[in-house]
Formats: sequence, C-alpha cells, structure tokens
Amino acid sequence: MKRSKIFAWMLAVLMVVTLFAGCSKPAPAGETSANAPAKKIKVGLSLPTQREERWVRDKEKMEQVAAEKGIELIVKVADANMQEQITQVESLLTQGIDVLILAPHDAAAAATLVEKANKEGIPVISYDRLITNTDKLDIYLSFDNVKVGELQGKYITEKVSEGNYIIMSGAPTDNNAKLFKAGAMKYIQPLIDAGKIKVIAEQAVENWVPENALKIVEAALSANNNEVDAILAPNDGTAGAAIQALAAQGLAGKVPITGQDAEKAAAKRIMEGTQSMTIFKDTRELGAAAIDIAIQLANGEKVATNGEVDNGKIAVPSVLLEPKIVTKDNLKEVLVDSGYISEADLK
Ligand code: BGC
Repeated sequence: MKRSKIFAWMLAVLMVVTLFAGCSKPAPAGETSANAPAKKIKVGLSLPTQREERWVRDKEKMEQVAAEKGIELIVKVADANMQEQITQVESLLTQGIDVLILAPHDAAAAATLVEKANKEGIPVISYDRLITNTDKLDIYLSFDNVKVGELQGKYITEKVSEGNYIIMSGAPTDNNAKLFKAGAMKYIQPLIDAGKIKVIAEQAVENWVPENALKIVEAALSANNNEVDAILAPNDGTAGAAIQALAAQGLAGKVPITGQDAEKAAAKRIMEGTQSMTIFKDTRELGAAAIDIAIQLANGEKVATNGEVDNGKIAVPSVLLEPKIVTKDNLKEVLVDSGYISEADLK
C-alpha cells in the first residue's frame, strides 16, 4: 500500500471511531453501560512528606493499585509544610476529583480542607493520620495507633523495668504521635509512679525531624553523665538519630530503644543489634485499602468499618489495620518472607 492510501485508511477508521464515541452517553462514575466505557473515577491524594521511607511506599502502592483498577490518581506531596499542603489540596479540589485521600501534615489545620471538600460533595478519607476538629470527615483509614504505642511500651518496659528513661514522642501536630505516646505510657507510667523508672528527658520531636531527636538525646546524655538505660523513640527515623547520639558515646547496642515503620535501615540496625525493635505497619495493605475505599465512596457504596476514633468533634468511622512488633527473632519471618524487604537490604 502506498503511504497516502494507508493514511486515508487510518483517517477513515478514526472518523468511524469518533462518530461512535460521539453517539454514546457518558456513564456515571464507576458504572458501565452497554455502549460506553465507564467514566474513570478520579481520586486526589495528598501526602505530607516523602522523608520517611514508608510514605514513599504508601505512594507507590496507591499508584500501583489505582493503575490496576483503572482509577485516575492525582498525587501531591507537601514538604512537611501545611501551607504547601493547603495549596495542593485546594488545587486538587478544582480538578474534578470524586474522592480525596488526605494524610495531613497538621491534624487540626487540615479540618478546613475537609470542610471545603465536603461543600463540594467530595468525600474525604483521612489516611494514616487522623484529621481532627471537623464533623465532616467521612472515614479514617489507619492502623490501631494506640496499639502501636502499647507494643513499644510493653517491649521497652519488659527489657528495662527500672532506670533512666528518655521518652520522645512524635510531632505535636500529628494526632498519631499522641496515640503512640498514650499507648506506650500505659506501660511506662505505672513504673514511673512506682519510683522504678526515672524520666531524664521527655520531649516531642518537632516535625518528626531526626536531627531534633539527635539533639534531645545528645543533651540528655551529656546532662546525665551518659547514664541512660532505655529510650522510647516513636519511629525509625528518630531512633536512627538517637542511635547516632549513642554511638558517639560508645553506647550503641547497649541501650534498648524502640522504633516504628520497619524501614530498611532500621531492619539492618535490628539485625546488627543497635536498635531493639520496630513496628511493622504494612503500607501495602493500607495503600490498597485506601484505593478500594475510594472506589466504594465514589460509587456511593457503604464502606465496612471496624471501629470509631474520636477526632474531637465526632466518632469517625474507622478502618484500622493491625500493627506487628518486629525484633531480631521474627524479622526475617515478618519482613523478608512477606517480601517487604529483601535479604540484600540487610547487608
Ligand atoms: C506515621 C509514622 C511516621 C511518622 C512520621 C506518623 O504519622 O504513622 O509511620 O513515621 O508519621 O512521618
């Protein structure tokens, strides 16, 4: 066939296709009709950061599942900055999204975003972190975060039931940080009250920044002649920094310390013996659940929940997944066998 003929033939095919497409009525979101493809569900995703490895995994999983399920996912990442997140979410709300998945940098400040979405009839999933102070939130999808803290508190008090403790908590703007600490203190507080544990430092790590944790631990070590017996670190990022401070004093591996997130670097430290434990929250499950729930909300279906969490205004219907404790004893089974990390990550 000559080139011009091929071109003419292609043009004809294109015209027919366009003609048919023009005839069909668009189907409502998520529904298929006999002669029209389903209108793609559009979901907006706003994440607070990519600093911790886990948030990178959350994003990747949601992108993967969205692609598999034929969902359009528009992703915005704020650099741990609420103003940036507000601007990004406001932009998402103008892009015709059917559902918003929002992991807030600042729990309370995100309330206005929920109210705005609600006015436009866009349901909001509070992802991993709870959005507080609004009665318009549709659903909270996370792990049982009090349980996360309980696992940390139980572990550390079983290891060290008396002595000098450094107690760190996460960013005060993150509701999770409160829940983690509340859970951990269920185990630590009774031992403080019994005069067994002495708290030599108790501080929140602003913005979850590891550098801030480093300073807290350095200051506590130097003010107490290096006499530290245990450290409650709220996540792996802050634990890594605390271990750096311990290492500078030749104490890495000698002071039991908690963590959370099952980051690769933390898994390595656990195998090496400088970090005592971490909490595994399977972001693959959380990410997949977020997309599934978004589809249900877009289709106006009822979402099955397994709990309620008070956000200061309402008991928010919640889907809470189970966190798992990881120590040297079960790390390979829980993290490597499940494919979350590889043997090579531990090298
Ligand atoms: C998350 C943790 C994370 C921390 C810092 C918390 O809200 O639940 O997994 O380590 O934020 O990003």
